[in-house]
Amino acid sequence: MSTQLEAEINKFDSINAIEVADTPPSSWYLDQQFYELDKKVLMNNWQFVASVDQFTESGSYIAGSFCNEPYFIIKTEAGDLRAFYNVCRHHAAELLKGEGCTKDIVCPYHAWNYSLDGQLKKAPQMAGVKNFNREKLSLSEIPLKVWNKFILLDFSGNSRALDTDLNRFDQKLVELGTNQLKFMCRRVYEIKCNWKVYIDNYLDGGYHVDHLHKGLAGQLKMDDYRVENYKTWTLQSCAASLNPIQSEGIDFKERIGQEALYGWFYPNFMINRYGNIMDTNWIIPTAPDHCLTIFDYYFLPATSEDFISASIKASEQVQIEDVDICQSVHRGLSSKSYSTGRYAPTLEGGAYLFHKLLKEDYLAQLR
Ligand SMILES: [Fe+2]
Repeated sequence: MSTQLEAEINKFDSINAIEVADTPPSSWYLDQQFYELDKKVLMNNWQFVASVDQFTESGSYIAGSFCNEPYFIIKTEAGDLRAFYNVCRHHAAELLKGEGCTKDIVCPYHAWNYSLDGQLKKAPQMAGVKNFNREKLSLSEIPLKVWNKFILLDFSGNSRALDTDLNRFDQKLVELGTNQLKFMCRRVYEIKCNWKVYIDNYLDGGYHVDHLHKGLAGQLKMDDYRVENYKTWTLQSCAASLNPIQSEGIDFKERIGQEALYGWFYPNFMINRYGNIMDTNWIIPTAPDHCLTIFDYYFLPATSEDFISASIKASEQVQIEDVDICQSVHRGLSSKSYSTGRYAPTLEGGAYLFHKLLKEDYLAQLR
């Protein structure tokens, strides 16, 4: 074990009450060694990669990359969802790109051909090859499970079990008629900050909403903002304002409905549910100072194009404000003047929970 790295992890004291706790040292956000640890931690936690809505027919697929692991999810002829490393067993070329629908999986390099369930069917020009066992050359599979309408992947093959307590949130989504909502579109944002800066920003219990997101704050009854922290997830909720500040092109009463719910699931996934809308945020680190936030938007199937585009525009405004402040925080964390900060005890319990869980996982990775 690297004692220097362990010492840096332990600079964050996770035993103290939040009233006296300091936030993790800035090295957690800047150092390459922590970035390597982060990737291992994420690989050891189920990743919310896509929605079942995105796979309508046999052969529907989506390819992507997570922490340098190319993967794809596909619907087989039997109607099952399966996930595989997107890597040909011949010379490792990526097999599928983007998303689409296919009858079989053909490598663009030498045309090795796999069935939708990953079996090698044809390997052209391999006459004369010896000790070639076709069965052993199936695509390498990634464990997949479905929770609510989300497809989760286990990139380590050994991820921690999902918190059974998550059923509470599932129940809430069901009660709110979330099944009726359908995946509509995905937006990807690049942010020049460590991925944890973005999560911290999400978990400050609405602390920054009044001040940074004036437009959003005008749609919410901010004195009603509540934070509930569970074992590995948090729920922030806030009733809609009775008199939302109106702006052109969208009815904010319709957009927020009665209440906004913001669920965070350790370590890097959020579900935001309001009105007849859901958006999810999947955060992918790509460098110590860079991450992607992937927004998936869900609406009722009959929602008008105008409402969808106005709603996404309102959401993007909040995202622009968050991206700007997260990049600013990352630059500040890099300053020699800063090492640790403090928590607002009644608001930032979610961020403290995140850091405590992360510390446990960091230490587990070193053992
Ligand atoms: Fe924000």
